[in-house]
Formats: sequence, structure tokens, C-alpha cells
Amino acid sequence: MSAARAMFGAVQRRAFSASARDLSKVTVLGAAGGIGQPLSLLLKLNPRVTELALYDIRGGPGVAADISHVNTKSTVKGYDPTPTGLAQALKGADVVLIPAGVPRKPGMTRDDLFNTNASIVRDLAKACAESAPDANLLIIANPVNSTVPICAEVYKARGVYNPKRLFGVTTLDVVRASRFVSEIKGTDPKDEKITVVGGHSGVTIVPLFSQSSHPDLSANADLVNRVQFGGDEVVKAKDGAGSATLSMAMAGARMAESVLRAAQGEKGVVEPAFVDSPLYKDQGIDFFASKIELGPNGVEKIHPIGEVDANEQKLVEACLADLKKNIEKGVSFVASNP
Ligand code: NAI
Repeated sequence: MSAARAMFGAVQRRAFSASARDLSKVTVLGAAGGIGQPLSLLLKLNPRVTELALYDIRGGPGVAADISHVNTKSTVKGYDPTPTGLAQALKGADVVLIPAGVPRKPGMTRDDLFNTNASIVRDLAKACAESAPDANLLIIANPVNSTVPICAEVYKARGVYNPKRLFGVTTLDVVRASRFVSEIKGTDPKDEKITVVGGHSGVTIVPLFSQSSHPDLSANADLVNRVQFGGDEVVKAKDGAGSATLSMAMAGARMAESVLRAAQGEKGVVEPAFVDSPLYKDQGIDFFASKIELGPNGVEKIHPIGEVDANEQKLVEACLADLKKNIEKGVSFVASNP
């Protein structure tokens, strides 16, 4: 074979493998909901997504028909809960996002959603373990501190658990933190990189302002409280019509984009997420949110929380106590309701 021809072959092979790797099917379960619809729209606008599968117990095909008219290249298909609908939506998926489940009403905590959402997430996780066991699973449905352990237990029972592919979506907490700080300091939120660790509800959400460019803010109890309970502002303002949907859609789309960027070979992609983590396992806490470096296999590196000041140390302690209970609740739910 001539050198030129060999080179042409190599270039062709490279081009083929690059494009094969860049094909990405993304599935949204709960696609017709308050989060599901704008999230699906944002995914349709993302050129990294080549195939979009939209499933809901009602309304999936309608949302898909609407979004499919947006003139970007990806294909869009909607699925109903027919006997094979869910399995078809999941088959071949690289990323599955789960915003299915009921949202909060005023006065409710995320834990109050447990009774309804635990079984919804358990059943969807069973379908994912069956039809897309290697996909990156991004859990939005609350209470995230419990629904993520539920998914892990379901996968473990089927022998397909890969801790590198399971993520509780906590992106909205860092989105809110950077926005709230920018309002106080009069800065551009894109320059405010705030680390938020722990879990995704109330006191389990721990912003680490001492690590930001405004370490003074760690003493600002009102700001810390606003980050921890920012979701309540939206629940109250919507007055019974649900919780954050639009900001959550943005945060979920950003997390999916980061997972895809890393899957497609980009280095140094870091997002916060609630994952199976070694950081507090010695205290019996198997899941924890910190900065996660993403790679082609999902979780590449779990960053430690880093230096914290005395205020933050107290927040971390309160977080761990609650988090442990939330995780145990998810694990024992699956043990008694397999
Ligand atoms: P929604 O009620 O507007 O939508 C939920 C959708 O899920 C509905 O379309 C419903 O038909 C669907 N659904 C219910 N059971 C299903 C099943 N078995 N299979 C497929 N679809 C199913 O609720 P919204 O506002 O979209 O919130 C969804 C979830 O996201 C809630 O649990 C909420 O607490 C959570 N959330 C999470 C956030 C986070 O930061 N992780 C932020 C905001 C909300």
C-alpha cells in the first residue's frame, strides 16, 4: 500500500471514529413536566445531542412533535408508556436524565416528596438498568439525597452498578450561589465560581465561600441560608404551582452538556454532583456532592472538599448528620420495596 493511501485510510478511520463517538442519544424521563419540557428544548438546541428521546407517562409524543420542529439537526421522538415505549426510549442512550416525579408545594421539604417519588424513581431505574445499563444516569427527581441511593441499590441488585455513571444533579445549587453572590458584589455571575458540597436539600447544601474570591461571605448567614433554601423562594412565589423548573432546566442542560463534553474527549471538565464518593465513607456516608472531574467513563476524579473555615466546618457537620439519614432512607426503601 502506498504511503499516501495508508495515510488516507488512517485519516478516514479517525474521522469515522470521531463521528461515531460524537453521536449522542439523550433520553429524558418525565419530559412533559415543568422541568422536562424546557430541559428537552435546551437539549434540542445542543449540537452535541444527535438523538433526543422524550418519555413521560402522559404527553411525551406531543412535546416531541413540538420540539422536533426546531431547526437543529438532531432527531426527536416521543414515547408513551406502551409495553415497549420506555425500553425503546432508553435503548442506546448515552445520557438519561430523570426529572419525573412530583414537585414541592409551599411548606413542603424535599423529603416530603419521598413517598411518591421513591417508587417512581425505583421503577424508572429498573427500566434503565435493563435497557441502558451503561448510560450516564442524571437524577433530578427529589429528594436527590435519597433517590440517588435508590438507583444505586436497584442497579446493584441487577449486577450492573457502575458508580462512575450515577449522578445526582446539584448544578442548580452552584448556579444559584454564583448568581446570589454576583447580586451582592455587583459582579458578573460567570466569574463567580462558588464550590457547593454536601447534598441537595436544606442544610445538606454547603456553600464554601471561603474558597471563593470573597472569603468574607462565609460569615454572611443570610446568604448561606439563601443558597440552602433558594428553592423555597421559587416554591413560595409559584404559590402551589410547583417548584423551580426553568432555572432547573438550564442547570440540568448544563450538567448534560458537561457529561457529553467529557464523553467526547474534552479534558478538565469539572461539575459538582452528588455521587458515590469515598470522602465520608468512614462515617457511613456513601454519597456526597463535591467537585467532580468528568471523563469518557463518567466520574474521573472526585475532588476533596478542600480547606474550610470554622463557620463552614459547622455547616459540614450539620450536613453529614442529615445526609446520613437521607441516604439510609433510600437504601432501606429498596430493601423493603424491591
Ligand atoms: P412536574 O409535575 O411538572 O413534572 C413531572 C413529570 O413527571 C410529569 O410530566 C409527569 O407526568 C411525569 N411522571 C410522573 N411519573 C412518571 C413516570 N413513572 N415515568 C415518567 N414520567 C413520569 O414536576 P417538575 O416541576 O418538572 O419537577 C420534577 C422533579 O424535579 C420533582 O421531584 C422536583 O422536586 C425535582 N426538582 C429537582 C431539582 C434539582 O435541583 N435536582 C430542582 C427542582 C425540582
